[in-house]
Amino acid sequence: MKKHNYSAGPSILPQEVFEKASQAILNFNDSGLSILEISHRSKDFVAVMDEARSLALELLGLQGKGYQALFLQGGASTAFLMAPYNLMKENGKAAYLDSGTWATAAIKEAKLFGETVVVASSKEENYNHIPKGYVIPSDADYFHCTSNNTIFGTQMKDFPATNVPVVCDMSSDIFSRDLDFSKFDLIYAGAQKNMGPAGATLVVIKEEILEKNGRTIPSMLDYAKHIKAESMYNTPPVFAVYVSLLTLQWIKSKGGVAAVEKLNDAKANLLYTEIDRNPLFKGAAAVEDRSNMNVTFLLTNPDHAAAFDALWKEAGVSGLPGHRSVGGYRASIYNAMPIESVQVLVDVMKALETKV
Ligand SMILES: Cc1ncc(COP(=O)(O)O)c(C=O)c1O
Repeated sequence: MKKHNYSAGPSILPQEVFEKASQAILNFNDSGLSILEISHRSKDFVAVMDEARSLALELLGLQGKGYQALFLQGGASTAFLMAPYNLMKENGKAAYLDSGTWATAAIKEAKLFGETVVVASSKEENYNHIPKGYVIPSDADYFHCTSNNTIFGTQMKDFPATNVPVVCDMSSDIFSRDLDFSKFDLIYAGAQKNMGPAGATLVVIKEEILEKNGRTIPSMLDYAKHIKAESMYNTPPVFAVYVSLLTLQWIKSKGGVAAVEKLNDAKANLLYTEIDRNPLFKGAAAVEDRSNMNVTFLLTNPDHAAAFDALWKEAGVSGLPGHRSVGGYRASIYNAMPIESVQVLVDVMKALETKV
């Protein structure tokens, strides 16, 4: 039986993407070859890369606006250091919002390159909310934020107006909601949550911000080099890019990011309504900052854990335990999660009331 997969990442992808991807492993484009055995320089794969790059920009509304999309390797964790390498001047400074574990990891890398100002942090409250009311120094080379905090289940609803370039780690909510993406100068996201399998990282860059910081950058870490090579500076993660393309095509077929956002809102609303109604549960994140992608919640009485765990496992739910730094539960309801699966979880939460 196919499980209801709430894993935070790698995570659920649309069933039809799995089917098309498995077909391409056997016989890609009727070529008599597997996608896993063709050259990345072949006509068929170059077409995949070109379409994936262009569709990513189209879905974000950034086509023809001076942006480039790249599919790189090294995960979002490599983007943590590529951002300062490419944007922070020698003796420059960068401003960071500390909203969770991944933001902290990005800050640690930036400190290797220069002055790193943390404009605000919610660390003292175990990152249960998004810090607000901070000031971004106008002389910073860029401001970095994390749009969705996968571990803590918080999501930025507003982004600061600032005159400095904005860099955003959108690993866990890329393509989940419609924003004015032209407010961002650099966006990066590991594919393995809302876009594809692990192995590719989507990077979307406003080209004009590059090659201005005066640093000599190693080739593999240089965004400008990757752009010049059309995201083929070296062998790209062929299969991860192909599956990402299938997912982007699926998003487009659903009506694009705005249409997918409506479905995501309905799913999140269904689950948060039950968390707030059911006296056996409570939400872990501040209500105004709740994530529509990673729903974190706790049992009001931890003694009920064994009964609850047995119920959701019996219902075919998988990947529900929360990250160790928050405890409790985390339901990751990425784009591909059907509302019917969310209803299964809600029914299990209701069923617990009759058991305890
Ligand atoms: C928001 C966020 N940023 C960065 C990362 C790290 O990504 P990667 O494992 O691709 O380096 C994660 C991983 O879960 C994440 O959720």
